Amino acid sequence: MRTKFKAWTKPYIDEHPEVMISDDFLQAHPSPYFLEIGSGKGKFLYDMAFAHPDQFFVGVERNVTCAGIAAKKIVEGEITNAKLLFTNADEVLDKINDQSIKAIFLNFSDPWPKKRHHKRRLTAISYLRQYDRILIRGGQLFVKTDNDDLYAYSLETLAQSPLQIIEKLDDYDGRADFDMTTEYELAFREKGQKIHRIVAQKND
Ligand SMILES: C[S@@+](CC[C@H](N)C(=O)[O-])C[C@H]1O[C@@H](n2cnc3c(N)ncnc32)[C@H](O)[C@@H]1O
Repeated sequence: MRTKFKAWTKPYIDEHPEVMISDDFLQAHPSPYFLEIGSGKGKFLYDMAFAHPDQFFVGVERNVTCAGIAAKKIVEGEITNAKLLFTNADEVLDKINDQSIKAIFLNFSDPWPKKRHHKRRLTAISYLRQYDRILIRGGQLFVKTDNDDLYAYSLETLAQSPLQIIEKLDDYDGRADFDMTTEYELAFREKGQKIHRIVAQKND
């Protein structure tokens, strides 16, 4: 499902600072918030922010077309409790304050199938250590994927990390309370593919 480049998206991003933020904004944000890495076209971010107006959501997306489409959804939906960073997560994770995130969502992250690329997976141990640093106590990491190999890999890396796996579902029905269906998830469910879900928690 490659996203076709849309030339309007970069100017749109530049013209909408009310939704497009920088890491300075995160450092100044007064209370813990929710973080989605790889927001795609923003359906999950929009739906979560709409359903939970008392919570604050930040999406990170590195693809210009996806980030622009997500930004447009948020602006046109007049959603004020969701913001976006147009960047690679690698550029921003270091700059997020310790214990400032209530939960991190990794929805259908790129599976990077080649072994030499596994360190780029968003559940590689180097990322999990960062998540452990930025999550509040009791904060959670939510992983959803259709990819069997990424699911198995994530369970292994999580077992080696400071985070504790509190739920793993091979065949998630999509009905958890604090969740929304993503664009990729809709497409996979239509094809009858199983969705896997992991919830891990920071305990100390
Ligand atoms: C397979 S898509 C899933 C999109 C959406 N989460 C969904 O479930 O419909 C993965 C998205 O993550 C973004 N992405 C992958 N690695 C990223 C990274 N390191 N930083 C920011 N975005 C990333 C990609 O550009 C892409 O839009």
